[in-house]
Amino acid sequence: MEYGNRNADIMLIGEGPGADEDTQGEPFVGRAGQLMNKAFIGLGIKREEVYIANIVKCRPPQNRNPENDEAVACMDYLRSQVMLVKPKIIVLLGSVALKNILGNEYGITASRGKWIEKNGIIYIPTWHPAALLRDETKKIDFWKDLKEAIRRLEEIKKEVN
Ligand code: URA
Repeated sequence: MEYGNRNADIMLIGEGPGADEDTQGEPFVGRAGQLMNKAFIGLGIKREEVYIANIVKCRPPQNRNPENDEAVACMDYLRSQVMLVKPKIIVLLGSVALKNILGNEYGITASRGKWIEKNGIIYIPTWHPAALLRDETKKIDFWKDLKEAIRRLEEIKKEVN
């Protein structure tokens, strides 16, 4: 349950597959994913350029949030994905990704759009794309946060050269 470029500079981490993703074996292909793809197009990002993963690799029944033990069971897989891809930036999509990766003390409303560094990796949390389907006003934040991720990536690339 992943998609994208093994050499991606940006990795996006969601929650877990929904029904469409379960059927197609690819993350973010349902309505939320299509909305995210539109943001990518608007920002000049190619979906094939980034790497998209999820906290859990199997669909929780009735799309409930993953239980803690389910997230823990999938964490080594996700850690391997991060180690292999070595992204320069990780975008955390929503509260489940944020809490499982950075800790339960983080809340998405307070953390979104802010850079958080942990163990040498820089993260920017943002709304889960499904939240944008429920509340259109969040689209602008989502857009800003992805734009900030691209800006920071360009900065990092300049520093390296
Ligand atoms: N929501 C997620 O968190 N991940 C997907 O892959 C699809 C929807």
